[in-house]
Amino acid sequence: MKSLVIIDACVRQSDSRTLRIAEPIIDALSKRYKVTRYDLPEMDIVPLNPGLFKERGLGEIPAWAREAASAIAKADRILIAAPFWDMSFPAVLKCFFEQVSLFDITFTDNGKTCVGLCKAPKVLYITTRGMDIPTGSFLDQGSPYLRALGALWNLGEMTVLDVHNTDYMSEEELNLEINSTIEEGLELAKAW
Ligand SMILES: Cc1cc2nc3c(=O)[nH]c(=O)nc-3n(C[C@H](O)[C@H](O)[C@H](O)COP(=O)(O)O)c2cc1C
Repeated sequence: MKSLVIIDACVRQSDSRTLRIAEPIIDALSKRYKVTRYDLPEMDIVPLNPGLFKERGLGEIPAWAREAASAIAKADRILIAAPFWDMSFPAVLKCFFEQVSLFDITFTDNGKTCVGLCKAPKVLYITTRGMDIPTGSFLDQGSPYLRALGALWNLGEMTVLDVHNTDYMSEEELNLEINSTIEEGLELAKAW
């Protein structure tokens, strides 16, 4: 069975609209993939601080970070669920990337530049944005970052499933948008 790594950065957990979209899609994909899931809001992840940075220089990497980096490097698919915060995504997701972007695991170098060591040809990014900011707008600084990290790690094509303007539509409109995005995701999941 092929492997799927789920990275959940939905800080509002069970209240999260993003997770409401992601969960049924994750359920559908779980039937076809062996899933390894990281629920970041439960993980107490910190940024690289001076102590951790020094330890990294000595080759001492936290076991969880090494394992997560290896799972990401070996994964056939990667799904990221993260709400749109401060024009990108919650800091816990950046802290996670900082901890698991590891030399000779997710990337290496060839003496001239960095070379990615991951192999997932497909990434799915699920997000909801409070303001009316569609994917691709210069105001969306979440998806460009994830594409850039994908270039460092050698991840393939990224599909974005988004609902935007969530904070400024009626509950009824929001439910319709969320349900149609779930349908879109379930359709995608059949062949993804
Ligand atoms: C801390 C925080 C920061 C946010 N920053 C933005 C922002 O910069 N731009 C925006 O469009 N919406 C912003 N929002 C609104 C969320 O993107 C929106 O409510 C989204 O649907 C929340 O997703 P969730 O229910 O999965 O947490 C922010 C919300 C929070 C709680």
